[in-house]
Amino acid sequence: MHLTASDIEGLERRKRAALINSITGYKPANLVGTANTSGHSNLAIMSSLVHIGSHPPLLALIFRPDNAERHTLDNIRETGSYTINHVHTGIVDAAHQTAARYPANVSEFAATGLTELWRDGQTAPFVAEAAVRMGMTLRDELPLNINGTHLVIGEIVSLEVPSEAINELGALDPAKTDSVAISGLDSYYQSSLLQRMAYAKPGKAPQRL
Ligand SMILES: Cc1cc2nc3c(=O)[nH]c(=O)nc-3n(C[C@H](O)[C@H](O)[C@H](O)COP(=O)(O)O)c2cc1C
Repeated sequence: MHLTASDIEGLERRKRAALINSITGYKPANLVGTANTSGHSNLAIMSSLVHIGSHPPLLALIFRPDNAERHTLDNIRETGSYTINHVHTGIVDAAHQTAARYPANVSEFAATGLTELWRDGQTAPFVAEAAVRMGMTLRDELPLNINGTHLVIGEIVSLEVPSEAINELGALDPAKTDSVAISGLDSYYQSSLLQRMAYAKPGKAPQRL
């Protein structure tokens, strides 16, 4: 299949969305926990998490245009606080169900059976079932004029991860936490490590660790 810009434009709307949503390949599966100022919780699955920088430790999420109700985005704006929790193979069904459009007064925790975990210093709930949990503070929000989406940048202010999942260089091995990957909006993949590589340098042959 070879598509030009006008072929892509000419695709049936749902087919175009399915293709373009999946064409970046594997994306991380995360649950974003928030609460409004009354402490009412909310949970949403998101696959748009990207690394912005390590020092300070910054991550960004892309939010859909806020012409519909966006409880997660509203709560983050209201409190400046949110959590990011890895989805693992044992909670995929519940995690996916958080994408349903529940009314604002229904918590996706209660609706899906996932458990709220509150920690001092974070006015947003973590997901107790998740093995990797990050407490986030909002640092910046950039409206992207090109399509009305929002880039939300936050700093990791707390991090919980099983020590056994950290390798000798200090990196997380997401296969050890059974973290899953997403393609498009409906396909979940298990992870397994293929190989590790030494730092690449010109004139040095690729070397496996
Ligand atoms: C696999 C998957 C990935 C998603 N990733 C995102 C995302 O990165 N950004 C986003 O705004 N919505 C994403 N969504 C949609 C939200 O989960 C959905 O709109 C949810 O209802 C938002 O809940 P809220 O209104 O409580 O914030 C995704 C949905 C699915 C099924």
